[in-house]
Amino acid sequence: MAYETIIVEIEDHVALIKLNRPDALNALNEQLLSELATAVGEAQQNDKVRCVVLTGSEKAFAAGADIKMMSEKSFVDVFTEDLFTADIDAIQRIRKPIIAAVSGYALGGGCELAMMCDFIICSDTAKFGQPEINLGVIAGLGGTQRLTRFVGKSKAMDMNLTGRFMDAEEAERSGLVSRVVPVKKLMEEAMSAAQKIAEKSMISVMAAKESVNRSYETTLREGLLFERRVFHSLFASEDQKEGMAAFTEKRQAQFRDK
Ligand code: CAA
Repeated sequence: MAYETIIVEIEDHVALIKLNRPDALNALNEQLLSELATAVGEAQQNDKVRCVVLTGSEKAFAAGADIKMMSEKSFVDVFTEDLFTADIDAIQRIRKPIIAAVSGYALGGGCELAMMCDFIICSDTAKFGQPEINLGVIAGLGGTQRLTRFVGKSKAMDMNLTGRFMDAEEAERSGLVSRVVPVKKLMEEAMSAAQKIAEKSMISVMAAKESVNRSYETTLREGLLFERRVFHSLFASEDQKEGMAAFTEKRQAQFRDK
C-alpha cells in the first residue's frame, strides 16, 4: 500500500517503519496514526516479516500528537470520535515483536508510541518527555501509566508535572530504554537486534512477548502460573525438539515455526 506519512521497507524478515512528516517533527496526526496502524497490521499478516522496527528521523522520533490538528477540537469532538483510540488499539495489537529505534525528540505521544513498542533502543541524542502539561492538558496515550511503570512514580510525576525532558543517559539508568548507542549506530543496532529475534522460533518469540506483557496485567502468582503453562505448552512444538536437539548436537537450530 502507498503511504504518505510513513515509509515501510522489508529487509531480511524485518519490517522497518519510518515515521515521515519531517516538517512537523513527525507529529502524530490522524493520517499518520491510521497509516501506521495499517502498516503494523500488514506486518502482522505478512509471513516474511518476523520483527518490526519503528523509527523516526535523526532529529525526532516524534514530537507528540499534532497540536495544530488538535487545537480547535472541543471535548465533544475528541470524546465522540474517541480521538486516537482505534488506531492506537490496532498498533498495540501486533503479536510480532516491535522495537522502537529512537533518536532526537520522543515527546508526548511520541514518547508514548515508543513505550507501546516491546523495547526501546535510543541514540545518545534522544530526549524523552511528557510536556502536555505545558499545553493545558495531560498525556493521553500512556504517559501517566506506562511511564510510571517504567521509571517509577517520582520520575513519572516529575516529567508529567514539570514537562522536563529526560536525556538518553537518564532514560537508560531509569529503565525506560534497553540500550543507548551513538546516533550514527542507531539503525545498525536496532536492525541487528531485530535480525537476532528473527532467527528464533516465532512461536517462542510470540509466547515470550505475551508472557512479559502479562506481568503488567496481573498478580505475580497469576503471572508465574501463566508463564509456566506457556513454557509447558511449548513442549508441544517441533521447534522445542529442534532447539534442544541442536544444543545437544552442537549445531545451529533450524526453526520452522512449527
Ligand atoms: N504538533 C504539531 N507540530 C509540531 C509539533 C507537534 N507536536 N512539534 C513540532 N511541530 C512543528 C512546529 O510547529 C514546527 O513547524 P513550523 O515550522 O510550521 O512552525 C516544526 O515542527 C519544527 O518545530 P520547532 O520549530 O518547534 O523545532 P525546535 O527544534 O525549535 O523545537 C521541539 C523542537 C522542542 C520538539 C518543539 O517543536 C516542541 O516543543 N514541540 C511540541 C512538543 C509537545 O508539546 N508534544 C506534546 C504534544 S500533545 C500530545 O502528545 C498529547 C498526547 O499525549 C496524545
